[in-house]
Amino acid sequence: MLKVKKNDVLLKACRKEPVPYVPVWYMRQAGRYQPEYRAIRQNYSFFDISHNPEICAEVTQLPVKQLGVDAAILFADIMTPLKSIGINVNIVEGIGPVIENPIRSEKDVTSIRLLNPGNDIPFIQETIKILRDQLDVPLIGFGGAPFTLASYLIEGGPSKGYHITKGFMYSKPQLWQNLMERLSDLTISYLMAQIEAGAEVVQIFDTWVGALNTEDYHEYIAPFMHYIFSEIKKTGVPTIYFASGATHLLKEWNELPVDVLSLDWRTTIEEVRNRHINKALQGNLDPSLLLAPFDLIEKRTKSILDQGMDKPGFIFNLGHGIFPDVKVETLKNLTHYIHEYSRKDLVK
Ligand code: CP3
Repeated sequence: MLKVKKNDVLLKACRKEPVPYVPVWYMRQAGRYQPEYRAIRQNYSFFDISHNPEICAEVTQLPVKQLGVDAAILFADIMTPLKSIGINVNIVEGIGPVIENPIRSEKDVTSIRLLNPGNDIPFIQETIKILRDQLDVPLIGFGGAPFTLASYLIEGGPSKGYHITKGFMYSKPQLWQNLMERLSDLTISYLMAQIEAGAEVVQIFDTWVGALNTEDYHEYIAPFMHYIFSEIKKTGVPTIYFASGATHLLKEWNELPVDVLSLDWRTTIEEVRNRHINKALQGNLDPSLLLAPFDLIEKRTKSILDQGMDKPGFIFNLGHGIFPDVKVETLKNLTHYIHEYSRKDLVK
């Protein structure tokens, strides 16, 4: 049978190569805004879905079929590898990850052991193998960055100010170093396992790292991000780095061996490029705009596209994840608009 050529527009954009149109995917493109997902969740918990390869592959593919996006993202969570090494984490609806015994002591830190993918996450590799045969777009693998993972582990759940996490970092620098090393190794082996199974791009979510100032990021975080991205770079798979509320850290990020920076909505593509950030960029529509009338969504999207298409290396996405109130139809129309508008402009 003739194999249909795979859509590689996202891979090209990550490498700043010419593209026929701007590729698009959405953070949290699989989730509660979809009636089909809500129906599956009636019978299965979050981890039931992500630990069952057949159902997980179905949920991962849903937005690709429904919205026409240019990539799939593995359905899992940043906490998946931690749960898989025995940390007691639950996903609580409307809240997020909750940890029963937050990390405080040296003994708690040393309980974070290395990940053994074959034993600990066979379901991830099996899901990716199913997807590899079924998808005609690239699969994005992902993991959490050490600071963001540590924030859940130390606070015990979501936090406003990350005071306990930062207090830990400032007052126990050696234990912090130990924790960051363990979480970096965990993330590296989690991402490597996904790449080995067939993920073609990986994104690292450092959602909450914007809580740190530039000096602290440089001292306490950057060496570990450098280590993680350098290890992944050896595979040749493109990497994306996302954080929210972290525009002040862009200069630090520009020094990391990462390919694409994923921006939230608080900045513009033009501003970022004017700051001599030379990475490929991804972003950055405010997800709240998805509740606006479509002509306003279109207007703001056009502005992002006009700025993004000015240079090679641009991927359309939201500034943060989709939330449950959004309509599937809105995202379908948005995807169509992005493809059509950028195709006209790029193919002259
Ligand atoms: O993007 C995708 O479609 C892939 C799947 C994905 C999920 N979580 C599924 C999920 C990805 C990439 C994530 C990443 C993630 N998880 C991050 C980084 C990105 C971000 O949004 O900041 C963070 C901070 C988490 C931690 C987490 N897990 C939160 C904050 C929540 C939401 C809590 C809620 O109820 O709103 C989760 C749970 C979660 N992860 C859901 C999904 C689809 C909702 C689960 C459900 O109730 O069915």
